[in-house]
Amino acid sequence: MTAGEYKKLIDGALETCFKPFAAMPQEGLAEAMRYSLLAGGKRIRPMLVLEFCRISGGDINAALPVACAIEMLHTYSLIHDDLPCMDNDSLRRGKPTSHVVYGECTATLAGDALQAEAFGAILRSALPAERRADCAELLAGAAGLDGMCGGQYLDMLGEGKKLTEQELTEINSRKTGALLVAACQMGVAAAGGSERMLAAAGHYGASIGMAFQIRDDMLDVLSTDQELGKPVGSDAQENKNTYMALLGAEGCTETIEKLTDFAKNVLSEAFEDTAFLCDLADSLAQRKS
Ligand code: IPE
Ligand code: IPE
Ligand code: MG
Ligand code: MG
Ligand code: MG
Repeated sequence: MTAGEYKKLIDGALETCFKPFAAMPQEGLAEAMRYSLLAGGKRIRPMLVLEFCRISGGDINAALPVACAIEMLHTYSLIHDDLPCMDNDSLRRGKPTSHVVYGECTATLAGDALQAEAFGAILRSALPAERRADCAELLAGAAGLDGMCGGQYLDMLGEGKKLTEQELTEINSRKTGALLVAACQMGVAAAGGSERMLAAAGHYGASIGMAFQIRDDMLDVLSTDQELGKPVGSDAQENKNTYMALLGAEGCTETIEKLTDFAKNVLSEAFEDTAFLCDLADSLAQRKS
């Protein structure tokens, strides 16, 4: 499948989520969840789930709920990341952020519910029980204390301090890298792939994950609100530590290139059909949004 075809499949599946709640008293919460989930987004994480599932010998249709799950969890992380108590941003995916439209209380709950529903989607899927458990465990680890939330906490603690490159890497491997690693490994787990495949998927995910946040930090300085769909200059405003501040644009580009090459090479340790993932790594390295 092409990236466009994957995106269509994922968007179609996400479109059906939480619709039955339209006639229930908590309809407003479902609306807020759908607002952020369907606002757009590149769908990189669910694409990784499906492609790693495919090259591990699995059925992508059976893995579709797992793909939706990681997008739900990611969307929750974005809603909370934008809250006034965190990055305090009012634009996301080209639209006003959840708290701007629905208020802080509903936005917080929409994030909370998306997180729970992510695990529900995996556990209710038609995959064999053991594979469901493996996917849920990977997602829990990536989202929790030693994953995204831990990274977000450290990101907040670092505001206004000058961190070393190693400290910044520690933060970013959790706040952004962990979910990208999990996306890759959940695809392998959904297919019942080998330990060798899990390891290669993890190395690929960690490398593109690091490159992804470096590129994100560059775009926060070099892009525009309109092109990016979120406010540029947010990092400077919140006194964040970024790769841009640490390495400069040229240093960032060089580091991204190295990480991307490593990601592409490491795939061959366990997989043969790697063209899509190599192209994806290249396109992420140069992405404009
Ligand atoms: C943004 O993620 C948050 C980071 C981890 C840097 P994406 O750039 O994947 O955002 P969407 O899903 O396309 O909106
Ligand atoms: C946060 O990084 C990544 C998340 C865990 C959501 P950023 O704060 O840089 O993400 P953006 O730039 O707001 O998307
Ligand atoms: Mg942030
Ligand atoms: Mg942010
Ligand atoms: Mg950013």
